[in-house]
Amino acid sequence: MNPELHTLPNGQHHVACIMDGNGRWAESRDLPRTAGHTAGEENLASIVRASVQRDIGWLTVFGFSTENWVRPRAEVRHILGLHERLFGRVEELNDNNVRIRWIGRPFDSAESRTPRFVQRAIKKAIADTANNTGLVLTVAFDYGSRFEMMDAVRSARRNGTDIDITSVTQRLHDPDLPPVDVMIRTSGEIRVSNFLLWQAAGSAIYFTETPWPDLSANELDTALSLVGTA
Ligand code: FPP
Repeated sequence: MNPELHTLPNGQHHVACIMDGNGRWAESRDLPRTAGHTAGEENLASIVRASVQRDIGWLTVFGFSTENWVRPRAEVRHILGLHERLFGRVEELNDNNVRIRWIGRPFDSAESRTPRFVQRAIKKAIADTANNTGLVLTVAFDYGSRFEMMDAVRSARRNGTDIDITSVTQRLHDPDLPPVDVMIRTSGEIRVSNFLLWQAAGSAIYFTETPWPDLSANELDTALSLVGTA
């Protein structure tokens, strides 16, 4: 954690995940790529449970990017269905006191691509978990950092507001999202993505060869051990 950037008062951590490698996980088992995404959604549910048991206040995951729409139509359709499934896990989320949030291109913006059934699932999950007080699980869907920052600057300019760190932060998709303490990227890709580029300033980064469907609670602990040493 970078103490100059870190603002969480209760000592809890913000973990962000780039859930890479679902496709390769499936291909290495002679399964269709969609099976990898299904396994990825199931592992996300288990990482959420593990996060609840740890000192993690905020977990933010990259579910679908503004660039992912160009994937084959059947794969996109499958991933959208998995989002509907994740947002539909309300009973489990409530049992674990998990509050759902979402970041992405606003549904009413000209660029938004989110279909109605996913919009409905997102809105329902947010409403149905709004009273929970534990882990905040934020799903980035139709999300891109560069769009988010550009949109924030545009909005400040429209209002005649000075462009500074506070005015931009206040106009991000979720101004309450705290700085990231550790970013996890699975499946051996040693690079950043178009994900939380503003919020991850000063974050530790944990790169692992493990594909997302196999990421374990033990590896989550390894990633958390980097916080404070970055
Ligand atoms: C990367 O795997 C993952 C994605 C494109 C995001 C989709 C993530 C899931 C379906 C996991 C469940 C999450 C939610 C929020 C429902 P990839 O296809 O890029 O794998 P590859 O790099 O091996 O091709």
